Amino acid sequence: MKRLLALLFFALTPLSAHAQVTAPSTWVNDKGSVMWVQTLDPSTGKFTGTYVNNAAGFKCQGAPYQLEGSAIGNQVNFFVNWKGAFAPDCKSMTIWNGRIVGNRITTMWTLYYVGADWSFHRMTGQDVFTRR
Ligand code: BTN
Repeated sequence: MKRLLALLFFALTPLSAHAQVTAPSTWVNDKGSVMWVQTLDPSTGKFTGTYVNNAAGFKCQGAPYQLEGSAIGNQVNFFVNWKGAFAPDCKSMTIWNGRIVGNRITTMWTLYYVGADWSFHRMTGQDVFTRR
Protein backbone atom coordinates (compact mmCIF):
# COMPACT_ATOMS: atom_id res chain seq x y z
CA MET A 1 0.00 0.00 0.00
CA LYS A 2 2.82 2.44 0.93
CA ARG A 3 4.55 1.68 -2.36
CA LEU A 4 1.35 2.30 -4.27
CA LEU A 5 0.87 5.67 -2.52
CA ALA A 6 4.50 6.63 -3.19
CA LEU A 7 4.08 5.66 -6.85
CA LEU A 8 0.90 7.74 -7.09
CA PHE A 9 2.62 10.71 -5.43
CA PHE A 10 5.54 10.71 -7.84
CA ALA A 11 3.27 10.09 -10.82
CA LEU A 12 1.00 13.04 -9.96
CA THR A 13 3.49 15.56 -8.55
CA PRO A 14 4.93 16.67 -11.93
CA LEU A 15 1.42 17.63 -13.06
CA SER A 16 1.10 20.32 -10.42
CA ALA A 17 4.78 21.25 -10.34
CA HIS A 18 4.70 22.19 -14.02
CA ALA A 19 1.22 23.67 -14.08
CA GLN A 20 1.34 27.37 -14.57
CA VAL A 21 -0.50 30.36 -15.88
CA THR A 22 1.27 31.73 -18.95
CA ALA A 23 0.86 34.87 -21.03
CA PRO A 24 -0.69 34.90 -23.51
CA SER A 25 -3.19 32.18 -22.64
CA THR A 26 -6.92 31.61 -23.03
CA TRP A 27 -9.16 29.87 -20.51
CA VAL A 28 -12.83 28.92 -20.83
CA ASN A 29 -14.94 28.00 -17.84
CA ASP A 30 -17.81 25.55 -17.45
CA LYS A 31 -20.31 28.41 -17.95
CA GLY A 32 -18.80 29.46 -21.29
CA SER A 33 -17.03 32.57 -19.98
CA VAL A 34 -13.60 33.37 -21.41
CA MET A 35 -10.51 34.67 -19.65
CA TRP A 36 -7.55 35.96 -21.63
CA VAL A 37 -4.30 36.36 -19.73
CA GLN A 38 -2.35 39.03 -21.59
CA THR A 39 0.52 40.06 -19.32
CA LEU A 40 2.35 38.17 -16.59
CA ASP A 41 5.24 39.37 -14.47
CA PRO A 42 7.23 36.21 -13.66
CA SER A 43 9.02 37.92 -10.76
CA THR A 44 5.76 38.61 -8.86
CA GLY A 45 3.26 36.25 -10.50
CA LYS A 46 0.92 39.19 -11.14
CA PHE A 47 -1.10 39.03 -14.34
CA THR A 48 -3.61 41.15 -16.24
CA GLY A 49 -6.06 40.36 -18.98
CA THR A 50 -9.62 40.46 -20.21
CA TYR A 51 -12.70 38.57 -19.04
CA VAL A 52 -15.90 38.05 -21.03
CA ASN A 53 -18.78 36.75 -18.94
CA ASN A 54 -21.07 34.37 -20.85
CA ALA A 55 -22.73 32.75 -17.84
CA ALA A 56 -26.50 32.47 -18.10
CA GLY A 57 -28.48 34.27 -15.41
CA PHE A 58 -25.87 36.98 -14.80
CA LYS A 59 -25.62 40.58 -15.96
CA CYS A 60 -22.77 42.15 -17.94
CA GLN A 61 -22.68 39.37 -20.56
CA GLY A 62 -20.70 39.40 -23.79
CA ALA A 63 -18.56 42.48 -23.06
CA PRO A 64 -14.84 42.69 -22.25
CA TYR A 65 -13.80 43.62 -18.69
CA GLN A 66 -10.32 44.04 -17.25
CA LEU A 67 -9.04 41.36 -14.93
CA GLU A 68 -6.14 41.36 -12.51
CA GLY A 69 -4.70 38.50 -10.56
CA SER A 70 -1.76 36.57 -9.26
CA ALA A 71 -0.42 33.07 -9.80
CA ILE A 72 1.99 31.97 -7.09
CA GLY A 73 2.87 28.29 -6.97
CA ASN A 74 -0.36 26.54 -7.81
CA GLN A 75 -2.53 29.24 -6.18
CA VAL A 76 -4.40 31.42 -8.67
CA ASN A 77 -6.44 34.44 -7.56
CA PHE A 78 -8.02 37.08 -9.74
CA PHE A 79 -10.80 39.64 -9.76
CA VAL A 80 -13.01 41.56 -12.17
CA ASN A 81 -14.70 44.89 -11.44
CA TRP A 82 -17.81 44.75 -13.67
CA LYS A 83 -17.42 48.32 -14.84
CA GLY A 84 -15.72 49.31 -18.08
CA ALA A 85 -15.16 52.34 -20.26
CA PHE A 86 -17.05 50.71 -23.13
CA ALA A 87 -19.11 48.16 -21.19
CA PRO A 88 -22.06 48.36 -18.82
CA ASP A 89 -21.57 49.11 -15.12
CA CYS A 90 -23.14 46.23 -13.19
CA LYS A 91 -22.15 47.70 -9.81
CA SER A 92 -20.54 44.44 -8.85
CA MET A 93 -17.23 42.67 -8.63
CA THR A 94 -16.09 39.05 -8.50
CA ILE A 95 -13.09 37.48 -6.81
CA TRP A 96 -11.94 33.99 -7.83
CA ASN A 97 -9.65 31.90 -5.59
CA GLY A 98 -8.36 28.64 -6.91
CA ARG A 99 -5.54 26.37 -7.88
CA ILE A 100 -4.08 25.22 -11.12
CA VAL A 101 -3.48 21.55 -11.86
CA GLY A 102 -2.38 20.72 -15.39
CA ASN A 103 -4.53 22.67 -17.81
CA ARG A 104 -7.30 23.34 -15.31
CA ILE A 105 -7.91 26.07 -12.78
CA THR A 106 -10.52 25.05 -10.22
CA THR A 107 -11.91 28.07 -8.40
CA MET A 108 -14.41 29.26 -5.85
CA TRP A 109 -15.79 32.72 -6.45
CA THR A 110 -17.57 35.44 -4.55
CA LEU A 111 -19.68 38.01 -6.38
CA TYR A 112 -20.38 41.25 -4.51
CA TYR A 113 -23.24 43.26 -5.99
CA VAL A 114 -25.57 46.12 -5.21
CA GLY A 115 -29.14 44.85 -5.18
CA ALA A 116 -32.42 46.54 -6.08
CA ASP A 117 -32.59 47.64 -2.43
CA TRP A 118 -29.27 49.50 -2.95
CA SER A 119 -27.53 47.44 -0.28
CA PHE A 120 -24.58 45.06 -0.77
CA HIS A 121 -25.19 41.38 -1.40
CA ARG A 122 -22.88 38.41 -1.82
CA MET A 123 -23.20 35.29 -3.94
CA THR A 124 -20.74 32.38 -4.06
CA GLY A 125 -20.09 29.53 -6.48
CA GLN A 126 -17.50 27.47 -8.32
CA ASP A 127 -15.94 27.77 -11.78
CA VAL A 128 -13.58 25.36 -13.54
CA PHE A 129 -11.42 26.92 -16.25
CA THR A 130 -9.80 24.84 -18.98
CA ARG A 131 -6.88 26.08 -21.10
CA ARG A 132 -7.70 26.48 -24.82
C1 BTN B 1 -23.11 40.60 -12.42
O1 BTN B 1 -23.99 39.76 -12.70
O2 BTN B 1 -23.32 41.49 -11.57
C2 BTN B 1 -21.78 40.61 -13.13
C3 BTN B 1 -21.43 39.35 -13.83
C4 BTN B 1 -21.06 38.22 -12.89
C5 BTN B 1 -20.72 36.95 -13.62
C6 BTN B 1 -20.45 35.77 -12.70
S1 BTN B 1 -18.86 35.89 -11.93
C7 BTN B 1 -18.96 34.24 -11.38
C8 BTN B 1 -19.63 33.43 -12.48
N1 BTN B 1 -18.64 32.94 -13.42
C9 BTN B 1 -18.76 33.53 -14.60
O3 BTN B 1 -18.01 33.30 -15.57
N2 BTN B 1 -19.76 34.38 -14.61
C10 BTN B 1 -20.46 34.42 -13.34
